[in-house]
Amino acid sequence: LHDWPEPVIRVQSLSESGLKSIPERYIKPATDRPSLNVEEDPSNMDVNIPIIDLKGLSEDGNNLPQSTMDQISLACREWGFFQVVNHGVCPGFMDQVRETWRSFFHLPMEMKQAYANSPKTYEGYGSRLGIEKGAILDWSDYYYLHYLPLTLKDYNKWPAPPDSCREVIDEYGKELVKLGGRIMKVLSISLGLKEDRLQNAFGGDNFGACLRVNFYPKCPQPELALGLSSHSDPGGLTLLLTDHQVPGLQVRKDDKWITVKPAPHAFIVNIGDQIQVLSNANYKSVEHRVIVNSDMERLSLGFFYNPKSDIPIQPMEELVSTDKPALYSPMTFDEYRLFIRLRGPKGKSQIESLHSPR
Ligand code: OGA
Ligand code: NI
Repeated sequence: LHDWPEPVIRVQSLSESGLKSIPERYIKPATDRPSLNVEEDPSNMDVNIPIIDLKGLSEDGNNLPQSTMDQISLACREWGFFQVVNHGVCPGFMDQVRETWRSFFHLPMEMKQAYANSPKTYEGYGSRLGIEKGAILDWSDYYYLHYLPLTLKDYNKWPAPPDSCREVIDEYGKELVKLGGRIMKVLSISLGLKEDRLQNAFGGDNFGACLRVNFYPKCPQPELALGLSSHSDPGGLTLLLTDHQVPGLQVRKDDKWITVKPAPHAFIVNIGDQIQVLSNANYKSVEHRVIVNSDMERLSLGFFYNPKSDIPIQPMEELVSTDKPALYSPMTFDEYRLFIRLRGPKGKSQIESLHSPR
């Protein structure tokens, strides 16, 4: 895990060079290419991931109407994805955070290169996930950093320019840790458990939190590439903030790819592999990918709320019975995420490898 297998090329530089066709390394095999006209398929036009109103959600996560709890439970079983509105994070602040990151990606390349990352920790400015030599790459650059545990939080690995960037990133982390904690309680209750049960399975106060900001430059041949290959999120819970004017995220539903239409100032919430394991597959971590386009760049912020990285994660005993035996063998999140760090995004192949032998 020492260095990248090939010289790093910034996708943004490729895009800005004005080339008319993309390099071979970004051309996906025909079976993985997006069908860019699915939107014209009338059966997909009004399909969207569920939108859930969290108005009135208290600190203890206990006071949502039963109908809302039912919607959440259904969304986690059937989609692995939902969007939340009235989540308590100020819309103006969400815009400020997104635009601060946009300014970062529009800094001169030399300034960004000062934060270039390596596959050892992935922290900083990066352009690939996985270290497989000769891999077909995704059409995106990103920035990755840690909030929690505090032992991993390192301001030196956060961008300093643009001005006040670190303060904004810090504040965003505080807000999302709070929101994530409340959603964890809601999920726990919706699984029929005590409100703190899921958080305790994450290691209580010792959970982890990190941020991956994705930058998808304009792509001259979007029909051949993906901004981010199909994957399920390896961690616990993801809270995603995207550009709402520029679609790109697609979620797999019954073997179709559904393009998410984000509501203004919503967060997109999705179940990661660790919650699929803890819930004994009652809740699903669902495959998703990102498509790109030729006229607009796109930015997204993925906030990952993860279990403590060195404790075994396995199905919670309340959700295991003789009728529903434990589907997965225990594994720590540190061991688990090594896979994606070596091999890059590969659908749901990793969680499938965890299936208990029986
Ligand atoms: C991710 C991810 C989706 C997006 O970062 O894991 O799935 O819309 N991002 O950028
Ligand atoms: Ni993802």
